[in-house]
Amino acid sequence: MNAEQIPLLQDELHTYQLHQQVLRIAGYAIITFNRHGILIYASDTLPQIIGYTLDDIIGRHYDDLLNIFVPNGYTPHYNDFEDEFLAQQVLPHVIITKNGEKKWIEYQIIPYHEDDYIHALIQDVTSRCLAEQAIEQQIQESARQYQEIQNLFEKVNRLEQLKSDMIRMAAHDLRAPLAVFVTHLDVLSLELADENTVIDKRVLSERLDDLRNATKRMKRIIEDILSLERIEQNAHHAEYTPIEIAPIVQGLFRDYQPQAKSKSLDFNLKCLPKPVFILGDIAQLREAIANLISNAIKYTPEGGHVDIWMDVKNDCVHFEVIDSGYGIPKDKQASLFQPFYRAKSKATRHIEGTGLGLYLVKNVIERHRGRLIFKSVEGKGSHFGFEIPLIQQ
Ligand SMILES: Nc1ncnc2c1ncn2[C@@H]1O[C@H](COP(=O)(O)OP(=O)(O)OP(=O)(O)O)[C@@H](O)[C@H]1O
Ligand SMILES: [Mg+2]
Repeated sequence: MNAEQIPLLQDELHTYQLHQQVLRIAGYAIITFNRHGILIYASDTLPQIIGYTLDDIIGRHYDDLLNIFVPNGYTPHYNDFEDEFLAQQVLPHVIITKNGEKKWIEYQIIPYHEDDYIHALIQDVTSRCLAEQAIEQQIQESARQYQEIQNLFEKVNRLEQLKSDMIRMAAHDLRAPLAVFVTHLDVLSLELADENTVIDKRVLSERLDDLRNATKRMKRIIEDILSLERIEQNAHHAEYTPIEIAPIVQGLFRDYQPQAKSKSLDFNLKCLPKPVFILGDIAQLREAIANLISNAIKYTPEGGHVDIWMDVKNDCVHFEVIDSGYGIPKDKQASLFQPFYRAKSKATRHIEGTGLGLYLVKNVIERHRGRLIFKSVEGKGSHFGFEIPLIQQ
């Protein structure tokens, strides 16, 4: 700045214009209220922020002005304008300008003490607030994406865990029947190689029975694991079609009759009187129903009863298998539907299984938007079943 310019700057008009220019560039305006809350002055820069002309607003009361600018109306909180004004300052306020535009402003009291007036500096902070809003939205979006990835990661982890459990269990469970096989085959080879050994037909038949049973056990373990694997894989691309559930149950009831008879069980079916339909995957549902029926037969001692029962209630098809079997101890009931869980008690210790059946049932029913039904009293029996919504006519 050179010496000739100083007198120019001291010129009051020029100083005033310079201040207005600075306010305009910075997006600021100055306003003055008298002690009664009447706006008596506003800098020329205010219309640029609020859209209204000075004539529109000078001479109006603070409450009146807020009624114009604040969206959804304004209710005064304090009796005294000054208290109200002081309490509201600094925080960004949303206002609606004359042409309906939404803007954010902040105002601060100018600490220039004059008893009769309050001066305030108003700033247009719209671009800052919009940027903050955009950042906030981005943060929320990132948090949502993070949660999605986290869920996916947990799901993959669970599947991985299930796969390794399956391999571990399969290896463990297959070892016993495989050992029966190896032992019997070794003995048979030795006996056949020894010319002096006379093979007793009865013993041979017993051995063959053992081998047959061992094969059955291996087959069942492999089937269990394969069906679970298939259902896990099909989870997302299963083609759901209208299915009538009663014929599936009738077919399975027939399939399990010989097994029930071999244990002298009183085995009954009460089916639906007329056809009803649900949306689903027939193979998965058959698997789930078969598991429930086979459990009831497996965990009911000789001479007990197993009743299969179907009904329609509250726009859902109900399916239940009720047995008079060993039941499940209360403290073991919470874990029943977890993979590989077996609720062993003194009575059921000798019964074989992998503990995958009910986990599979739970998965299938959840995929059909259904609800599991379960009730059991140790020593008395169990109810296992589900309800699945009918197709709306
Ligand atoms: N009807 C039932 N009565 C009593 N206990 C049952 C019944 N159904 C299931 N359970 C208990 O729940 C456990 C889990 O059943 P789940 O069908 O998942 O496995 P599992 O029958 O042991 O083996 P598998 O995988 O061969 O079906 C069983 O080990 C058994 O203790
Ligand atoms: Mg089972």
